[in-house]
Amino acid sequence: MTAIETGTVTPGHRLAESVVLVTGATAGIGRETALALGRLGAHVIVHGRDQQRGPAVVSALESTPGGGSFMPADFATQKGVTGFADRVQAEYDGLDALVNNAGGWFTDGRLTDDGLEYTFAVNHLAPFRLTHELLPLLATRQGRVVTVASDVHRQGTIDFEKTRTISDYNSWQAYCRSKLANILFTRELARRLEISDTTVTANSLHPGIVPGSGFFRNAPLPVRLLTRVAQLLPDTMVSEVVDTPAEAAATPVYLVATQAGNTHTGQYFVDQSPTEPSAEATETRLARRLWTRSAELAGIAPDYGLDPVPADTTDSHVTVHRSNGQTASSDAGKYQE
Ligand SMILES: NC(=O)c1ccc[n+]([C@@H]2O[C@H](COP(=O)([O-])OP(=O)(O)OC[C@H]3O[C@@H](n4cnc5c(N)ncnc54)[C@H](OP(=O)(O)O)[C@@H]3O)[C@@H](O)[C@H]2O)c1
Repeated sequence: MTAIETGTVTPGHRLAESVVLVTGATAGIGRETALALGRLGAHVIVHGRDQQRGPAVVSALESTPGGGSFMPADFATQKGVTGFADRVQAEYDGLDALVNNAGGWFTDGRLTDDGLEYTFAVNHLAPFRLTHELLPLLATRQGRVVTVASDVHRQGTIDFEKTRTISDYNSWQAYCRSKLANILFTRELARRLEISDTTVTANSLHPGIVPGSGFFRNAPLPVRLLTRVAQLLPDTMVSEVVDTPAEAAATPVYLVATQAGNTHTGQYFVDQSPTEPSAEATETRLARRLWTRSAELAGIAPDYGLDPVPADTTDSHVTVHRSNGQTASSDAGKYQE
C-alpha cells in the first residue's frame, strides 16, 4: 500500500499554487510522482528527454486539479543542465520543490561530451548543478530539494579517479557510487543551507525496488529476466519485495507534500521514515571533498552561492593513501583523487 492509499498523504495535503519540478518525469517513478503531485493540486514541470512521453504526462496532468508543462533536456552535459535551468528561471518566479529523480543504470561505459563518466554525470553532477542553478527560485518559497537515491548506495564507494575514465568500467559499481554521491550531496547541501540560514531543506530517499520502471531496461540479461519474472508473479507473492512505480512515488510525494519535508533536512528516507544510510554516506569530510570536486567539474564556485562553511571539521579520523604509496592520517580524507 502506498502512503497515498493509506492516507499518510491525503488530498488534505493540498498543493494548489505550488510549482514542483520533477526531473525524469517522462517514465517510471518520476512519472508517477508527477501525477500524484498533480492530483494534490501542484503544477508540475515535467522534465525528461522523450518527446512523446513528456507531452503524454502533461496530458494526463491536465485531468488532475494541478497541471503541467513539459521541458525537455538531456542532463548528460552541463550545458544541457544549465540551458534547462535558464528556461525554468525564465518561465517561473518560484519553485516549491525540486525532485531530482532523473537517472539510471547505464551498462555501457561511455564518456559525456564534457569528458565525464556518464553515470556520474547524469546521476550526480546534473542534480548537483541543477540544484545550484535553481536555489534562488527555491529560496523564494521555503523550497525543498528531494533527491532520489537508492539503498544500493550501501554497495558503493566513492572513487574520484572514476569520474573521468571508463577504463575498468563496472556499471553496477558506477551506479551504486552515484547513488552514494546523491546522499553525500544531500547531507552537505543541507549542512550548507543551515549555515546560510535559508529555509530551503534537502533530503534524499530510497523509493523501493521497482522492476516495472524503465530502470532495468539496460541491465544485463539475467537481471532483465529476473525482473520480468517478478512482474509476472502475482502481487501477493512479490509485494513485500518489489514495488510498482506508483508505490515507489510515495516517499518523494511525502517529502514534497507533507510537513516532514520541511521539518527534516539532511536525512535519508526509506518508506517515509528517516533511516541511517551507510557509514560512508555519513562521512562529513568525504561529503566536502565530493562537493569541492563536483563544483570544480561543474565549473562553479565551491561556496555554491551560499555562506562559506567553517574550515574545521568534526568528522571521524580518516586515512589517506598518498600518491607515493605511503599511508598517513590527514584531513585530506581517505579518498584518492
Ligand atoms: N527502479 C528501481 O528499482 C529504482 C530503485 C532505487 C532508485 N531508483 C532511482 O529512481 C530514479 C528513477 O528511476 P526509474 O526506475 O523511474 O527509471 P526510468 O523508468 O528509466 O526513468 C528514468 C527517467 O530519467 C530520465 N533520464 C535518464 N537519463 C537522462 C538523461 N541523460 N537526461 C535527462 N533525463 C534522463 C528519463 O527520461 P527519458 O526517458 O525521457 O530520456 C526518465 O524520465 C533514478 O534516479 C533511479 O536511480 C530506481
